[in-house]
Amino acid sequence: MSTPTATLLAEIAEIGRDEVRGGVTRPGLGSAEIALRDWFIEHARARGLEVEIDRNGLTWAWWLPVDGSRDGAVATGSHLDSVPGGGALDGPLGVAGALRALDVLRTRHAHPPRPLALVVFCEEEGSRFGLPCLGSRLMTGAVAPERVRGLRDAHGVTFSSAARDAGIDPDGIGENPEALAHLAAFVELHVEQGRGLQDLGRPVAIAGSILAHGRWQVTLTGAGDHAGTTRMADRHDPVVVLAGIVRAVRQAARSWPDARGTVGRVEVVPGGTNVIASRARAWIDLRHASDDVVRSMLATILSDAAREAESEGCSLAVTEESFTPAVAFDTRLAARLRSVLPDAPVLDTGAGHDAGILAARVQTAMLFARNPTGTSHAPAESCTDEDAEAGAVALADVLDDLLARPLDAPGPS
Ligand code: GLV
Ligand code: MN
Ligand code: MN
Repeated sequence: MSTPTATLLAEIAEIGRDEVRGGVTRPGLGSAEIALRDWFIEHARARGLEVEIDRNGLTWAWWLPVDGSRDGAVATGSHLDSVPGGGALDGPLGVAGALRALDVLRTRHAHPPRPLALVVFCEEEGSRFGLPCLGSRLMTGAVAPERVRGLRDAHGVTFSSAARDAGIDPDGIGENPEALAHLAAFVELHVEQGRGLQDLGRPVAIAGSILAHGRWQVTLTGAGDHAGTTRMADRHDPVVVLAGIVRAVRQAARSWPDARGTVGRVEVVPGGTNVIASRARAWIDLRHASDDVVRSMLATILSDAAREAESEGCSLAVTEESFTPAVAFDTRLAARLRSVLPDAPVLDTGAGHDAGILAARVQTAMLFARNPTGTSHAPAESCTDEDAEAGAVALADVLDDLLARPLDAPGPS
Protein backbone atom coordinates (compact mmCIF):
# COMPACT_ATOMS: atom_id res chain seq x y z
CA MET A 1 0.00 0.00 0.00
CA SER A 2 1.33 3.43 -0.92
CA THR A 3 -0.77 6.57 -0.93
CA PRO A 4 0.52 10.05 -1.85
CA THR A 5 0.27 12.59 0.96
CA ALA A 6 -2.17 14.78 -0.97
CA THR A 7 -4.49 11.79 -1.55
CA LEU A 8 -4.48 11.00 2.17
CA LEU A 9 -5.27 14.62 3.00
CA ALA A 10 -8.03 14.74 0.37
CA GLU A 11 -9.72 11.73 2.02
CA ILE A 12 -10.28 13.72 5.23
CA ALA A 13 -10.65 17.26 3.89
CA GLU A 14 -14.42 17.39 4.46
CA ILE A 15 -14.44 15.94 7.99
CA GLY A 16 -15.43 18.69 10.40
CA ARG A 17 -16.09 21.17 7.58
CA ASP A 18 -17.58 24.30 9.20
CA GLU A 19 -20.17 25.93 6.97
CA VAL A 20 -20.62 28.88 9.34
CA ARG A 21 -17.07 29.89 10.21
CA GLY A 22 -15.42 28.48 7.09
CA GLY A 23 -12.55 25.99 7.26
CA VAL A 24 -12.80 23.04 9.63
CA THR A 25 -13.82 22.76 13.29
CA ARG A 26 -12.49 19.59 14.93
CA PRO A 27 -12.59 19.94 18.71
CA GLY A 28 -10.65 17.49 20.86
CA LEU A 29 -12.60 14.29 21.66
CA GLY A 30 -15.43 15.48 19.41
CA SER A 31 -17.00 13.49 16.59
CA ALA A 32 -14.75 14.95 13.88
CA GLU A 33 -11.54 14.19 15.78
CA ILE A 34 -12.76 10.66 16.45
CA ALA A 35 -13.73 10.12 12.80
CA LEU A 36 -10.23 11.26 11.85
CA ARG A 37 -8.68 8.96 14.43
CA ASP A 38 -10.68 6.05 12.95
CA TRP A 39 -9.43 7.01 9.50
CA PHE A 40 -5.85 6.89 10.79
CA ILE A 41 -6.42 3.51 12.46
CA GLU A 42 -7.87 2.07 9.27
CA HIS A 43 -4.80 3.17 7.29
CA ALA A 44 -2.44 1.88 9.97
CA ARG A 45 -4.16 -1.53 10.12
CA ALA A 46 -4.23 -1.76 6.32
CA ARG A 47 -0.43 -1.47 6.50
CA GLY A 48 -0.19 -4.27 9.06
CA LEU A 49 0.76 -1.99 11.97
CA GLU A 50 -0.09 -2.85 15.58
CA VAL A 51 -2.52 -0.17 16.78
CA GLU A 52 -3.39 0.81 20.32
CA ILE A 53 -5.05 3.77 22.05
CA ASP A 54 -3.24 4.55 25.28
CA ARG A 55 -4.54 5.68 28.66
CA ASN A 56 -4.53 9.34 27.53
CA GLY A 57 -6.30 8.75 24.22
CA LEU A 58 -3.13 8.94 22.12
CA THR A 59 -3.23 6.54 19.20
CA TRP A 60 -0.05 4.56 18.50
CA ALA A 61 0.65 2.44 15.41
CA TRP A 62 3.79 0.30 15.49
CA TRP A 63 5.99 -0.95 12.67
CA LEU A 64 8.18 -3.44 14.49
CA PRO A 65 11.57 -5.01 13.76
CA VAL A 66 11.87 -8.78 13.36
CA ASP A 67 12.40 -9.31 17.11
CA GLY A 68 9.14 -7.47 17.88
CA SER A 69 10.87 -5.13 20.32
CA ARG A 70 9.46 -1.65 21.01
CA ASP A 71 12.57 -0.34 22.74
CA GLY A 72 14.64 2.44 21.22
CA ALA A 73 11.73 3.46 18.98
CA VAL A 74 11.71 6.42 16.67
CA ALA A 75 8.29 8.10 16.66
CA THR A 76 6.56 10.52 14.34
CA GLY A 77 3.07 11.99 14.11
CA SER A 78 0.99 15.02 14.97
CA HIS A 79 -2.63 15.84 15.86
CA LEU A 80 -6.04 15.75 14.16
CA ASP A 81 -8.01 18.35 16.17
CA SER A 82 -8.27 21.95 14.97
CA VAL A 83 -9.03 25.45 16.15
CA PRO A 84 -12.58 26.68 15.38
CA GLY A 85 -12.78 27.46 11.67
CA GLY A 86 -9.17 26.41 11.17
CA GLY A 87 -7.15 25.16 8.24
CA ALA A 88 -7.22 21.49 7.31
CA LEU A 89 -3.43 20.97 7.46
CA ASP A 90 -2.37 22.09 10.95
CA GLY A 91 -1.88 18.62 12.44
CA PRO A 92 -3.25 16.40 9.63
CA LEU A 93 -0.25 17.12 7.39
CA GLY A 94 1.98 15.54 10.05
CA VAL A 95 -0.30 12.51 10.40
CA ALA A 96 -0.76 11.97 6.66
CA GLY A 97 2.98 12.67 6.25
CA ALA A 98 3.75 9.99 8.85
CA LEU A 99 1.67 7.40 6.93
CA ARG A 100 3.32 8.44 3.69
CA ALA A 101 6.80 8.31 5.23
CA LEU A 102 6.02 4.79 6.43
CA ASP A 103 5.01 3.80 2.89
CA VAL A 104 8.31 5.18 1.57
CA LEU A 105 10.29 3.33 4.23
CA ARG A 106 8.50 0.08 3.43
CA THR A 107 9.77 0.32 -0.14
CA ARG A 108 13.28 0.43 1.35
CA HIS A 109 13.07 -2.20 4.13
CA ALA A 110 11.01 -5.36 4.67
CA HIS A 111 11.38 -4.74 8.42
CA PRO A 112 12.66 -1.62 10.19
CA PRO A 113 16.04 -1.98 11.89
CA ARG A 114 14.43 -0.44 15.01
CA PRO A 115 10.77 0.13 15.90
CA LEU A 116 8.91 3.00 14.26
CA ALA A 117 5.84 4.40 16.02
CA LEU A 118 3.26 6.63 14.36
CA VAL A 119 1.38 8.63 16.98
CA VAL A 120 -1.71 10.84 16.95
CA PHE A 121 -1.98 13.25 19.88
CA CYS A 122 -5.33 14.61 21.05
CA GLU A 123 -6.62 18.13 21.85
CA GLU A 124 -3.38 19.75 20.69
CA GLU A 125 -5.02 23.12 20.07
CA GLY A 126 -6.72 23.29 23.46
CA SER A 127 -9.73 24.70 21.61
CA ARG A 128 -12.18 22.66 23.60
CA PHE A 129 -10.80 22.39 27.15
CA GLY A 130 -8.49 25.43 27.12
CA LEU A 131 -5.24 23.53 27.68
CA PRO A 132 -3.12 23.17 24.53
CA CYS A 133 -1.17 19.95 23.91
CA LEU A 134 -3.40 18.20 26.43
CA GLY A 135 -2.45 14.66 25.34
CA SER A 136 1.31 15.25 25.33
CA ARG A 137 1.12 17.16 28.64
CA LEU A 138 -0.67 14.22 30.20
CA MET A 139 1.78 11.73 28.73
CA THR A 140 4.84 13.59 30.03
CA GLY A 141 3.33 14.42 33.41
CA ALA A 142 3.37 18.15 32.63
CA VAL A 143 -0.19 18.50 33.94
CA ALA A 144 -1.90 16.83 36.88
CA PRO A 145 -4.65 14.39 35.84
CA GLU A 146 -6.95 15.78 38.57
CA ARG A 147 -6.80 19.19 36.92
CA VAL A 148 -7.56 17.73 33.47
CA ARG A 149 -10.49 15.65 34.71
CA GLY A 150 -12.22 18.83 35.90
CA LEU A 151 -11.66 20.96 32.78
CA ARG A 152 -14.89 22.06 31.12
CA ASP A 153 -15.67 23.01 27.54
CA ALA A 154 -17.79 26.04 26.54
CA HIS A 155 -20.96 23.98 27.05
CA GLY A 156 -19.98 22.88 30.56
CA VAL A 157 -19.06 19.32 29.52
CA THR A 158 -16.17 18.04 31.63
CA PHE A 159 -13.10 16.41 30.17
CA SER A 160 -14.01 13.29 32.14
CA SER A 161 -17.40 13.04 30.54
CA ALA A 162 -16.08 13.72 27.01
CA ALA A 163 -13.28 11.19 27.56
CA ARG A 164 -15.75 8.52 28.69
CA ASP A 165 -17.86 9.17 25.56
CA ALA A 166 -14.70 8.74 23.48
CA GLY A 167 -13.91 5.40 25.13
CA ILE A 168 -11.15 6.70 27.44
CA ASP A 169 -11.31 5.98 31.17
CA PRO A 170 -10.74 9.38 32.84
CA ASP A 171 -9.51 7.69 36.01
CA GLY A 172 -6.65 6.16 34.01
CA ILE A 173 -5.23 9.35 32.47
CA GLY A 174 -1.80 10.64 33.51
CA GLU A 175 1.93 10.33 33.00
CA ASN A 176 2.86 7.39 30.80
CA PRO A 177 6.43 6.39 31.69
CA GLU A 178 6.12 3.08 29.80
CA ALA A 179 5.35 4.91 26.53
CA LEU A 180 8.13 7.43 27.14
CA ALA A 181 10.61 4.66 27.93
CA HIS A 182 10.11 3.17 24.46
CA LEU A 183 11.01 6.38 22.65
CA ALA A 184 14.53 7.27 21.53
CA ALA A 185 13.41 10.21 19.39
CA PHE A 186 10.32 12.00 18.10
CA VAL A 187 10.10 13.98 14.85
CA GLU A 188 6.94 15.93 13.94
CA LEU A 189 6.21 17.16 10.42
CA HIS A 190 3.97 20.27 10.36
CA VAL A 191 2.73 22.78 7.84
CA GLU A 192 4.68 26.00 8.35
CA GLN A 193 2.52 28.63 10.04
CA GLY A 194 4.31 31.64 8.57
CA ARG A 195 6.01 32.76 5.37
CA GLY A 196 9.59 31.73 6.15
CA LEU A 197 9.90 29.01 3.52
CA GLN A 198 7.89 30.92 0.95
CA ASP A 199 10.25 33.89 1.29
CA LEU A 200 13.32 31.63 1.10
CA GLY A 201 11.97 29.68 -1.88
CA ARG A 202 12.51 26.34 -0.10
CA PRO A 203 10.01 23.49 0.42
CA VAL A 204 11.10 22.10 3.81
CA ALA A 205 12.70 23.51 6.98
CA ILE A 206 14.04 22.16 10.27
CA ALA A 207 12.66 23.76 13.44
CA GLY A 208 15.02 25.68 15.72
CA SER A 209 12.87 26.85 18.61
CA ILE A 210 9.36 27.64 19.82
CA LEU A 211 8.39 30.89 21.53
CA ALA A 212 7.32 30.81 25.18
CA HIS A 213 3.54 31.16 25.25
CA GLY A 214 0.68 31.28 27.67
CA ARG A 215 -3.07 31.70 27.93
CA TRP A 216 -4.96 33.59 30.59
CA GLN A 217 -8.71 33.83 31.13
CA VAL A 218 -9.84 37.18 32.55
CA THR A 219 -13.34 37.45 34.00
CA LEU A 220 -14.87 40.86 34.65
CA THR A 221 -18.03 41.12 36.69
CA GLY A 222 -20.13 44.28 36.65
CA ALA A 223 -23.84 45.03 36.97
CA GLY A 224 -26.33 43.99 34.29
CA ASP A 225 -28.86 46.73 33.52
CA HIS A 226 -30.98 48.49 30.93
CA ALA A 227 -29.21 50.19 28.00
CA GLY A 228 -31.78 52.95 27.77
CA THR A 229 -32.57 53.82 31.38
CA THR A 230 -29.20 53.51 33.14
CA ARG A 231 -27.39 56.85 33.26
CA MET A 232 -23.79 56.70 32.01
CA ALA A 233 -22.47 57.72 35.45
CA ASP A 234 -24.28 54.82 37.13
CA ARG A 235 -22.89 51.99 35.03
CA HIS A 236 -20.55 49.14 35.95
CA ASP A 237 -19.98 47.81 32.47
CA PRO A 238 -17.45 44.94 32.17
CA VAL A 239 -17.35 45.27 28.37
CA VAL A 240 -15.73 48.69 28.71
CA VAL A 241 -12.96 47.17 30.84
CA LEU A 242 -12.65 44.29 28.38
CA ALA A 243 -12.13 46.79 25.53
CA GLY A 244 -9.27 48.33 27.52
CA ILE A 245 -7.69 44.91 27.96
CA VAL A 246 -7.77 44.25 24.21
CA ARG A 247 -5.92 47.51 23.60
CA ALA A 248 -3.47 46.85 26.46
CA VAL A 249 -2.58 43.44 24.97
CA ARG A 250 -1.73 45.04 21.66
CA GLN A 251 0.21 47.84 23.34
CA ALA A 252 2.23 45.41 25.50
CA ALA A 253 3.10 43.17 22.54
CA ARG A 254 4.14 46.17 20.45
CA SER A 255 6.49 47.37 23.14
CA TRP A 256 8.74 44.26 22.87
CA PRO A 257 10.51 43.26 19.66
CA ASP A 258 8.99 40.08 18.18
CA ALA A 259 6.40 39.68 20.93
CA ARG A 260 2.87 38.51 20.11
CA GLY A 261 -0.31 39.39 21.99
CA THR A 262 -3.83 38.34 21.01
CA VAL A 263 -7.37 38.39 22.30
CA GLY A 264 -9.10 35.99 19.94
CA ARG A 265 -11.99 34.96 22.10
CA VAL A 266 -14.40 36.98 24.22
CA GLU A 267 -17.69 36.18 25.89
CA VAL A 268 -20.30 38.73 26.94
CA VAL A 269 -23.11 37.70 29.29
CA PRO A 270 -26.02 37.86 28.73
CA GLY A 271 -25.20 39.26 25.28
CA GLY A 272 -28.14 41.50 24.35
CA THR A 273 -27.89 44.63 22.21
CA ASN A 274 -29.99 46.66 24.64
CA VAL A 275 -28.46 45.11 27.77
CA ILE A 276 -25.48 46.32 29.81
CA ALA A 277 -23.55 43.11 30.37
CA SER A 278 -23.22 41.64 33.84
CA ARG A 279 -20.09 39.69 32.94
CA ALA A 280 -17.44 39.70 30.26
CA ARG A 281 -14.58 37.35 29.69
CA ALA A 282 -11.48 37.64 27.52
CA TRP A 283 -8.83 35.04 26.75
CA ILE A 284 -5.33 36.50 26.40
CA ASP A 285 -2.60 34.71 24.39
CA LEU A 286 0.95 36.08 24.83
CA ARG A 287 4.18 34.87 23.21
CA HIS A 288 7.88 35.82 23.15
CA ALA A 289 11.25 34.09 22.91
CA SER A 290 11.82 34.88 26.60
CA ASP A 291 9.61 33.41 29.35
CA ASP A 292 10.33 36.52 31.44
CA VAL A 293 9.10 38.88 28.73
CA VAL A 294 5.81 36.96 28.51
CA ARG A 295 5.41 37.29 32.29
CA SER A 296 6.32 40.95 32.17
CA MET A 297 3.80 41.70 29.37
CA LEU A 298 1.13 39.94 31.40
CA ALA A 299 1.95 41.94 34.55
CA THR A 300 1.61 45.22 32.64
CA ILE A 301 -1.69 44.21 31.04
CA LEU A 302 -3.18 43.00 34.32
CA SER A 303 -2.15 46.05 36.31
CA ASP A 304 -3.83 48.29 33.67
CA ALA A 305 -6.88 46.01 33.76
CA ALA A 306 -7.10 46.14 37.57
CA ARG A 307 -7.02 49.95 37.47
CA GLU A 308 -9.72 50.15 34.79
CA ALA A 309 -11.87 47.55 36.53
CA GLU A 310 -11.72 49.51 39.74
CA SER A 311 -12.63 52.79 38.11
CA GLU A 312 -15.62 51.10 36.41
CA GLY A 313 -16.72 49.42 39.64
CA CYS A 314 -16.17 45.91 38.27
CA SER A 315 -14.35 42.96 39.81
CA LEU A 316 -11.61 41.12 37.98
CA ALA A 317 -10.46 37.50 38.27
CA VAL A 318 -7.59 35.92 36.33
CA THR A 319 -6.91 32.24 35.69
CA GLU A 320 -3.76 30.95 34.03
CA GLU A 321 -4.90 28.25 31.62
CA SER A 322 -1.40 27.34 30.48
CA PHE A 323 2.17 28.54 30.38
CA THR A 324 4.67 26.84 28.11
CA PRO A 325 8.30 27.92 28.42
CA ALA A 326 10.35 28.57 25.28
CA VAL A 327 11.69 25.40 23.66
CA ALA A 328 15.03 25.06 21.87
CA PHE A 329 14.95 21.73 20.06
CA ASP A 330 17.72 19.24 20.79
CA THR A 331 20.81 20.53 19.01
CA ARG A 332 22.35 17.10 18.34
CA LEU A 333 19.16 15.74 16.84
CA ALA A 334 18.78 18.91 14.74
CA ALA A 335 22.36 18.37 13.52
CA ARG A 336 21.40 14.83 12.44
CA LEU A 337 18.44 16.26 10.52
CA ARG A 338 20.70 18.82 8.87
CA SER A 339 23.09 16.07 7.76
CA VAL A 340 20.15 14.36 5.99
CA LEU A 341 18.59 17.59 4.67
CA PRO A 342 21.56 19.90 4.05
CA ASP A 343 19.49 22.36 1.98
CA ALA A 344 16.78 22.83 4.60
CA PRO A 345 16.92 26.14 6.47
CA VAL A 346 16.39 26.25 10.23
CA LEU A 347 13.29 28.26 11.20
CA ASP A 348 11.95 29.23 14.61
CA THR A 349 8.22 29.29 15.22
CA GLY A 350 5.68 31.12 17.33
CA ALA A 351 3.25 28.19 17.25
CA GLY A 352 3.00 25.60 20.00
CA HIS A 353 3.36 21.87 19.23
CA ASP A 354 3.24 18.51 20.99
CA ALA A 355 6.89 18.17 19.93
CA GLY A 356 7.64 21.15 22.19
CA ILE A 357 6.06 19.40 25.17
CA LEU A 358 7.73 16.06 24.41
CA ALA A 359 11.09 17.85 24.15
CA ALA A 360 11.25 17.91 27.96
CA ARG A 361 11.46 14.10 28.05
CA VAL A 362 12.59 12.82 24.62
CA GLN A 363 15.05 13.92 21.93
CA THR A 364 12.72 15.84 19.66
CA ALA A 365 12.82 17.63 16.32
CA MET A 366 10.39 19.13 13.82
CA LEU A 367 10.17 19.64 10.07
CA PHE A 368 8.06 22.33 8.40
CA ALA A 369 6.54 22.16 4.91
CA ARG A 370 6.10 25.39 2.94
CA ASN A 371 2.79 27.23 3.28
CA PRO A 372 2.47 29.64 0.34
CA THR A 373 -0.08 31.87 2.05
CA GLY A 374 1.83 31.93 5.33
CA THR A 375 -1.60 31.85 7.01
CA SER A 376 -2.60 29.32 9.64
CA HIS A 377 -5.46 28.78 12.12
CA ALA A 378 -7.65 30.06 9.27
CA PRO A 379 -9.13 28.55 6.10
CA ALA A 380 -6.42 30.13 3.90
CA GLU A 381 -3.76 27.82 5.39
CA SER A 382 -2.26 25.88 2.50
CA CYS A 383 0.45 23.61 1.12
CA THR A 384 0.84 22.44 -2.46
CA ASP A 385 0.59 18.71 -3.17
CA GLU A 386 4.26 18.77 -4.19
CA ASP A 387 5.39 20.40 -0.95
CA ALA A 388 3.24 18.08 1.18
CA GLU A 389 4.96 15.18 -0.59
CA ALA A 390 8.38 16.82 -0.19
CA GLY A 391 7.69 17.16 3.54
CA ALA A 392 6.71 13.49 3.83
CA VAL A 393 9.73 12.29 1.85
CA ALA A 394 12.04 14.51 3.94
CA LEU A 395 10.44 12.95 7.01
CA ALA A 396 11.03 9.46 5.58
CA ASP A 397 14.69 10.28 4.94
CA VAL A 398 15.15 11.62 8.46
CA LEU A 399 13.40 8.60 10.02
CA ASP A 400 15.45 6.22 7.87
CA ASP A 401 18.64 7.81 9.17
CA LEU A 402 17.46 7.67 12.79
CA LEU A 403 16.28 4.08 12.46
CA ALA A 404 19.63 3.03 11.01
CA ARG A 405 22.00 4.67 13.47
CA PRO A 406 21.65 4.80 17.26
CA LEU A 407 21.22 8.21 18.76
CA ASP A 408 23.63 9.92 21.09
CA ALA A 409 22.60 10.80 24.62
CA PRO A 410 20.38 13.90 24.71
CA GLY A 411 22.26 17.06 23.80
CA PRO A 412 21.92 20.43 25.50
CA SER A 413 18.63 22.10 24.68
C1 GLV B 1 -1.26 26.03 18.46
O1 GLV B 1 -1.11 25.85 17.27
C2 GLV B 1 -0.82 27.26 19.08
O2 GLV B 1 0.27 27.73 18.73
O3 GLV B 1 -1.55 27.80 19.90
MN1 MN C 1 -0.47 21.94 15.01
MN1 MN D 1 -2.45 24.98 15.63
